[in-house]
Amino acid sequence: MKQLTLILGVLFIIGCKDSPKIKQGPIDKVVNESVNTNDNAGILKNNDSLLVEKGKMYAQSTQKVLGRNLLLNIQNNGVLGAVAFCNEKAYPLTDSMAIVHHAKIKRVSDKPRNTNNQANKKELEYIESFKSKIKNNESYEPILTTENGNTQFYLPIVTNTMCLNCHGVPEKNIDPKVTHLLQEKYPNDKAIGYKENEVRGIWSISFNNEQNN
Ligand code: HEC
Repeated sequence: MKQLTLILGVLFIIGCKDSPKIKQGPIDKVVNESVNTNDNAGILKNNDSLLVEKGKMYAQSTQKVLGRNLLLNIQNNGVLGAVAFCNEKAYPLTDSMAIVHHAKIKRVSDKPRNTNNQANKKELEYIESFKSKIKNNESYEPILTTENGNTQFYLPIVTNTMCLNCHGVPEKNIDPKVTHLLQEKYPNDKAIGYKENEVRGIWSISFNNEQNN
């Protein structure tokens, strides 16, 4: 039964092509509303909605590859086996999608499991901004900034029930064997204690505006 909940959870993510909470609007509004920073971001033009679409496509296609593989692993090897998959394959899979799209694709967090995924200062601000929107049940939009022909795109990664098997509360949501394995692989793990519908991190994607895919 637990297995079924997991699988349904993953199917939900994979099926969830476009989060209903994301609404499309003029980009300058996105920046002004979503982010409270004084720097850069003002350099945005109307045709940037194309860039938003591109960024979303990169994030969603990468999420789909990770999600599909996570599902297969949970099905075949259980949550424990899937931890090994995330440990060994999350990076190479994300990187391979980056190569396909000629973009730089990162998953970063304010509470990373893998210390390589620590968000930088700017990303932390964006995470806070998404957090407050999601907490207040407000709709949100991706954040886009452009500078010198380069686009930076940010979109939140939100938890669902399935994620709690590895990112929830130990004992309550995470099997002790899984906790043990996580501690072994990630002695500095901060990525636990989440509930559903919380910001686990963001996609942080950069690409050149001229490229075609
Ligand atoms: C089977 C266990 C497992 C499940 C289920 C799982 N994760 Fe993770 N997650 C991991 C592991 C392990 C890592 C570290 C991967 C690495 O070393 O790059 C990780 C890393 C991440 C990261 C990168 C930032 C960081 O903390 O290093 C994000 C974002 C993330 N997970 C989100 C999610 C979301 C959202 C879900 C549910 C849709 C989910 N995870 C489900 C095990 C899991």
